[in-house]
Amino acid sequence: MQTQLHCLCVLILYLTTGYGQEGRFSGPLKPMTFSIFEGQESSQIIFQFKANPPAVNFKLTGETDDIFQIQPDGLLYHNRALDRETRAVHQLQVAALDAHGATVEGPVPIIIEVKDINDNRPVFLQPKYEGSVRQNSRPGKPFMYVNATDLDDPSTPNGQLFYQIVIQLPKVNNVMYFQINNKTGAISLTREGSLELDPVKNPSYNLVVSVKDMGGQNENSFSVSTSVDIIVKENIWKAPEPLEIVENSTDPHPIKVTQVRWNELDAQYSLVEKEKLPRFPFSINQEGDIYVTQPLDREEKDSYTFYAVAKDEHGKPLALPLQIHVKVKDINDNPPTCPSSLTVFEVQENERIGSNIGTLTAHDMDEENSVNSILVYKIAEQTPRFPEEGLFLVQTYSGIFQLAKHSLRKQDTPKYHLVVNVSDKDFTTHCHVQINVIDINDQIPIFEKSDYGNLTLSEDTAVGSVILTIQATDADEPNTGSSKILYRITEGDSEGCLGIETDPQTNAGYVMVKKPLDFETAALHNIVLHAENPEPLVPGVKYNASSFATFTLTITDVNEAPQFTQHVFQAQVSEDVAIDTKVGNVTAKDPEGLDISYSLRGNKRSWLKIDPVTGEIFTMAPLDREAESLYRVQVVATEVAPD
Ligand SMILES: *[C@@H]1O[C@H](CO)[C@@H](O)[C@H](O)[C@H]1NC(C)=O
Ligand SMILES: *[C@@H]1O[C@H](CO)[C@@H](O)[C@H](O)[C@H]1NC(C)=O
Ligand SMILES: *[C@@H]1O[C@H](CO)[C@@H](O)[C@H](O)[C@H]1NC(C)=O
Repeated sequence: MQTQLHCLCVLILYLTTGYGQEGRFSGPLKPMTFSIFEGQESSQIIFQFKANPPAVNFKLTGETDDIFQIQPDGLLYHNRALDRETRAVHQLQVAALDAHGATVEGPVPIIIEVKDINDNRPVFLQPKYEGSVRQNSRPGKPFMYVNATDLDDPSTPNGQLFYQIVIQLPKVNNVMYFQINNKTGAISLTREGSLELDPVKNPSYNLVVSVKDMGGQNENSFSVSTSVDIIVKENIWKAPEPLEIVENSTDPHPIKVTQVRWNELDAQYSLVEKEKLPRFPFSINQEGDIYVTQPLDREEKDSYTFYAVAKDEHGKPLALPLQIHVKVKDINDNPPTCPSSLTVFEVQENERIGSNIGTLTAHDMDEENSVNSILVYKIAEQTPRFPEEGLFLVQTYSGIFQLAKHSLRKQDTPKYHLVVNVSDKDFTTHCHVQINVIDINDQIPIFEKSDYGNLTLSEDTAVGSVILTIQATDADEPNTGSSKILYRITEGDSEGCLGIETDPQTNAGYVMVKKPLDFETAALHNIVLHAENPEPLVPGVKYNASSFATFTLTITDVNEAPQFTQHVFQAQVSEDVAIDTKVGNVTAKDPEGLDISYSLRGNKRSWLKIDPVTGEIFTMAPLDREAESLYRVQVVATEVAPD
């Protein structure tokens, strides 16, 4: 105690010389606050209180912890090192007493704040940590925490902790799959970890995580480490297998058809259409169960593709959406339909048994090439049944009609009506067929003349122009395939420039230009025309020369103007170029291949000249940009007539 007092005296001396009587370290009794570092040498002076008469003595009370003391002369000091972690703030009171021990001043509050030094090491709360992470978890999303504490003041660097992954085992190709938040100790996947972790390849990892105090930024920080075992779990966020849903279901809807599951429980699910549909008959609930909400119709739409999305509570997608594919399975819910309310075929008198009369093609909307759409044909009724029943037959699967028994005669019946049953697996539709018996095609079309003479057309005759009217006649029954005439060009028009249309009333044929004529390709055409019937001729009758006619077509050349290779030629020259500098070259070509002579027009300042043969353009006077910054002339190309 003696030596301590001696020490205090020395200090006072230093202070009084430095700060005077009423300085930082001495003064009258009043409420005061002091900050003192913990862990310092013992017996440090704090303050010297000055007594005012009649005070002669001081008394210290409060949270002294037997550390703080005051001398009768008012010298406040502590006799041992402070420890912030034991008590960070000491609330003391000091009173001044008179000679009788009665309080004459105070007590006044004296607060001692103990300032922190880094005298505590961080400690992990657990000796070892275990956690698990899903394959493909979002990078940066914490899946576990390590946590350490440090008794030092968290408001100073001494208590600020810094986490780090020191070792990752195994570490393939030196890639870190895990990262730690250096402040919070939250462990998450890196981007590589999110992509590459695979429980099949490697089901578990071990990390060594260290924590340092002093924010990790001081070489005097304390550091401790812990071990973290991580299990990698399979990602269950996977697209379900493609589905098949039977159309036109009569079961009560909605019906659960499949499900998706996010790896954790907290996801919010939704469906997104791939294409905008008039109706979208699927829904998902918050368990990830997917429902079809109404009966599907394959004939309306035979498959659906959409996405299931999982989002977190902030509406942020947790992972890539999953694609869900639904195929709508056909049931036979559509009857066959007839091609029209009445299908008409023609059959000639005397046509032979087995002749093909025509094909009835009915349709079924159910899935093509399935039992639901394969149709069978059967004649149910023939009216009249004269001269007998079963005159016609239909091939069961193709719908081809044939003459079954014998040739028909128009005077027996000019037309028959058939009811044809067209059936799929479950439905039968009645289609109606009328068969007209027509006169035999024993007359050939005869041209009114065999030669239509010479026709001269210029090559620019417009496409669509009628250039010639031709006429043949046929003595077979009017308005049947035996008397109708189709005209065809059999020779002289290999380019297909001409076409012929027939007037169904008069059988007149109109020869028309279908494609531009071209003198340069061929100037003279010997055209051969042929008139035919759509129905075949009866055996023994043949088309002869009377069904053919000719004409000669001469195409005259139109002298076409030369054509420039470009409409605008541009050149840039500096105004100070020498006279006779070449500034450009224009070229034109004549379709007839004649030579061309070039000249200039609108050369108002006479700055340019052109070589009439080559089309090269030269300057012929000094140019002046200030007079004309853009000089425009026309070039004329003229055909040179051959001598
Ligand atoms: C600690 O982490 C933050 C991001 O969380 C980062 O910006 C900072 O650089 C890290 N500090 C050190 C020393 O690595
Ligand atoms: C569903 O099937 C029934 C008969 O099986 C049919 O009448 C109905 O038209 C069908 N609905 C659709 C939308 O195809
Ligand atoms: C072609 O045959 C018809 C009879 O079908 C006949 O009148 C005509 O003279 C024949 N023409 C020629 C050129 O033989």
